[in-house]
Amino acid sequence: MCGIVGYLGGRNAYPILIKGLQRLEYRGYDSAGVALINDNGNLVIYKTKGKVEDLIRVSRDQDVSGTVGIAHTRWATHGEPSDVNSHPHFSENQNLALIHNGIIENYQSLKTELSRKGYHFRSDTDTEVVIQLIQYLMDSQGISLEEAVPMALQHVVGAYALAILDKNHPERMIAARKGSPLVVGIGENEFFVGSDASPIIEYTNKVVYIGEEQIVFLEKGKEMRITDLRSVEQTAEIRELEMSLSQIEKGGYPHFMLKEIFEQPQTLLASMQGRLHPELGVVKLSGFIDNRKRLLSAKRIVICACGTSWHAGLIGKYLIEELAHIPVEVEYSSEFRYRKPVLFPTDIVVAISQSGETADTLAAIQLAREAGAFLFGICNVVGSSIARATDTGCYTHIGPEIGVASTKAFTAQVATLSLIALSFAEQLNTISESRRQELVSELQRIPEKIAKILGHDEKIRDLAKTFTYARNCLYLGRGYNYPVALEGALKLKEISYIHAEGYPAAEMKHGPIALIDEEMPVVVIAPKRGNYEKILSNIQEIKARKGRIVSIVTEGDTDVAKLSDWSFEIPDTEDCFEPILSIIPLQLLAYHIAIAKGRNVDQPRNLAKSVTVE
Ligand code: F6R
Repeated sequence: MCGIVGYLGGRNAYPILIKGLQRLEYRGYDSAGVALINDNGNLVIYKTKGKVEDLIRVSRDQDVSGTVGIAHTRWATHGEPSDVNSHPHFSENQNLALIHNGIIENYQSLKTELSRKGYHFRSDTDTEVVIQLIQYLMDSQGISLEEAVPMALQHVVGAYALAILDKNHPERMIAARKGSPLVVGIGENEFFVGSDASPIIEYTNKVVYIGEEQIVFLEKGKEMRITDLRSVEQTAEIRELEMSLSQIEKGGYPHFMLKEIFEQPQTLLASMQGRLHPELGVVKLSGFIDNRKRLLSAKRIVICACGTSWHAGLIGKYLIEELAHIPVEVEYSSEFRYRKPVLFPTDIVVAISQSGETADTLAAIQLAREAGAFLFGICNVVGSSIARATDTGCYTHIGPEIGVASTKAFTAQVATLSLIALSFAEQLNTISESRRQELVSELQRIPEKIAKILGHDEKIRDLAKTFTYARNCLYLGRGYNYPVALEGALKLKEISYIHAEGYPAAEMKHGPIALIDEEMPVVVIAPKRGNYEKILSNIQEIKARKGRIVSIVTEGDTDVAKLSDWSFEIPDTEDCFEPILSIIPLQLLAYHIAIAKGRNVDQPRNLAKSVTVE
């Protein structure tokens, strides 16, 4: 959601903070701000509605000296995007400044109480109460900031990653986390703070992922100190970052999204490397092998996820049920956590999340933990909250995904689910050895087949221009390609703002067919296998109503192509791996339509990359 960054050391903090904000801007981009304790010892804040470049403009003629600072890029929750609601926020006496990512749920009652005591609120945010509460505790109890922060955080209900500066102690910074991610980078006599490691990687690869309900005390020339909210000392586990700088830069592409679409042959290889062994016809997943007994005794698998990860989960259901014969349910985390799901200790709950920080998915697995289920995580971000909150799992290993619209994470999640389904199938003997060998060998060939599809990018770009007029669009698929229809529609709507719906093709005649006319583009995913004959008749039905058909067909198939206004070929593959190929032209189509409409594809309106609030 919001991005936070901090610096404390010997260098000029401002350029480090600005660069850090630019790296974190994918998390939120409706306002930005920075607080510095400048060389004159003043605590100054510059902030504005808009993007980081607007902040640079606003602070151009200001004093941006100082070797300690915090900065923030916002995704508004409480209070509209405006200069005054932007972070950082001052405390009443302007000696303290705070940045925050998360939501303070009891802010209204705290605000009323503090207002009664004479504290003035300048913004509509939930955040401002935290810094006012800290100052109130310092004033009323005559205690230090170090004592007031844990005390204040025990009064706060909600989620936070926050960082605080104190004008009277320019050599110190305090940061804390509950529910929202926080990383501290350790350099030579300097510290970096970030919502993730992307603002840190340029300076150091030594990091500490701050744990739940932990507070970190940073001071120049001293070791970092971590406590829990009751001030009990905790150990800091220093880890080495695997990420590289080139992974978080655009590498010559105009947008992160396009770079990430084109990276998919490599990212798919990376997510299967060391796991897929075509020479032996087997899959070796350490998270599976280490927990084999527990996993194999499962009577049922429940997958929890949101958005694109939910679509991957739906494909996972088809894969696991077909190959391993284990019943699978797929749940929206946000629904699952608030209804009364029936869970058994024999269940496995699989949480799928690129960021590993999605608040609803985290809450869903907490619920499953209470029911005694075994928790398996499929995450991309190493050390993320969901990765740590699950019993075991697999990382997708695709490097940072920065474009707000998920692309390479989706294909890697589906590939990982394929590996899991094959592992179950092998152990449970639900498919023959020769069939498993065929599937393993085919999975190995998928990256080069993706590369082939990417070679047709230009054709898709040309078609995209034709569709900028569209106000609605239907995506249809059957079997394994039904979730792809959902995902293709999601990609289009989130970055082009064209309304799009995905449907199982046969459901069309139960309602959506009423929408079809000569204005309506209908994207049909119709590869040669699976329910090919059935989808051919669905296409006939659209044709009869003059819908404009874009089809995704298997190489060499002319039957569907003849009925379509435009068609794209994908290489032939096994039914169960088709989604990894058929989504590629749909990602490109959404990207090019959005570009043709002049949209900001990496930062679409109202969205943020990591949804750490519910
Ligand atoms: C869509 C998209 C979102 C995410 C969803 C879950 O392109 O990116 O729908 O898939 O917010 O996020 P993660 O996977 O981080 O839990």
